[in-house]
Order: sequence, then C-alpha cells, then structure tokens
Amino acid sequence: MSRRVYADTGVFVCFEGGEGAGKSTQSGLLRTWLEERDHTVLLTFEPGDTPVGQALRRIVLSPETGELSHRTEALLYAADKAEHVDTVVLPALARGEVVITDRYVDSSLAYQGAGRDLLLADVERVNRWATGDLRPHLTVVLDLAPEAGLGRFTERDRIEGESVEFHERVRQGFLDLAAADPDHYVVLDARAPIEEIAAAIRARVEVLLP
Ligand code: TMP
Repeated sequence: MSRRVYADTGVFVCFEGGEGAGKSTQSGLLRTWLEERDHTVLLTFEPGDTPVGQALRRIVLSPETGELSHRTEALLYAADKAEHVDTVVLPALARGEVVITDRYVDSSLAYQGAGRDLLLADVERVNRWATGDLRPHLTVVLDLAPEAGLGRFTERDRIEGESVEFHERVRQGFLDLAAADPDHYVVLDARAPIEEIAAAIRARVEVLLP
C-alpha cells in the first residue's frame, strides 16, 4: 500500500455520508463561513466535476446504463477521482486554497467496497493509486439511517435504487473508516439542527486553517 499524502499547502476537507444527509447544505455553509474570513475556497464534488468526470457520472449513475459489472463501476468512479485530483484538487491545494469536496475515496470504499460484493482491499488499492493516496486533512461524515435519507428522493439513480441493506452496509462502511482514524474524521448525526452541525464542523476546520 502506498504512503498517505497530506498536502502541505492548502486545507483539504471532505464531506461523506449516505444519500440525503445534507452534505451540500453543510459544505455550502462552511464555504460561506470560510469566505467571510477571507479564505479562498474551492467547493467541488465527485463524481462529475471535470469534463471527463461529467461523462463518467452519466454512465455510472444513469438508470439507462442498466447492469454494470461491479469492477467496472469501481473503475469508472476511480477514473473520475484520478481526473479530479490531478486537474482540480491538487492545483487548488498548491495555490493554498481550502478545497471542500462533496464525496471522495471513502465513498468508493463504502459503496463499492462495503456495499457491493468486491473486496474492500481491492477497491482501496485502486482508489489509492487513482488519487496518489492524497488524503483529506478532515473528513466530515454526516450519519443518517438510510430510510431517512432515501425517503427524500422520488426518482432514483443506479445507486439510490439499491436496497436498504445495501445502504446499511454503506453507512457502516463510513462509520468504520471514521472509527479507525479519529484524528482525521468527525462523525455527526445528520438529524441534528443544521446550525448545530455547522458549528461542530467549523470547530474542527478552524484548527486546520493557516
Ligand atoms: P451524489 O448523490 O453525492 O451526487 O453522489 C452520486 C452517487 O454516487 C451517490 O449515490 C454515491 C455514489 N458514489 C459511489 O458509489 N462511489 C463513489 O466513489 C462516489 C464518489 C459516489
């Protein structure tokens, strides 16, 4: 396994969690708070925030794609990450910016590794290679029972349409990753009031700022 890389310029923050946990709300609030303090923020997401990533996102999420081999699915997500890290995340960190990403490697470890029938170690190896093992300084896991999160969607994509059991494994996947590395994770109950969650996130991010 390659060696973990933490950027020595900029701050890399990642939001993870199941469907409908409020990642976009919280990442937006964090961005506003940081910008009010004169930090330059790049708010981005996976999959799909590069030109090739948009095409990959369409393939991997559109119900029209139908069945995909689970290895193909893992590789498509990994390709999106490689492009995202090389062309978006690393350049912004090199400029000293705060990069906030809505989903990153842990999403693949949870969805493809814990959710699908692939070996977690294989999914991890592919993803670490795809990203040069770049790690977030902090990952915020917004934890929510699948029944609560999935209830918010009427039209479901390829992943949202999976069973509750699948989404339970995903949830546990995120919690296991966080439990193994508490210095780089914070787990928050997504049902708490929005402002309470935002304050807890700010407290963990503040100490990382230059
Ligand atoms: P989104 O709903 O946050 O836009 O994410 C798109 C879907 O893709 C979501 O259901 C989670 C899934 N996903 C994976 O399965 N593996 C990954 O590596 C990523 C980034 C997302």
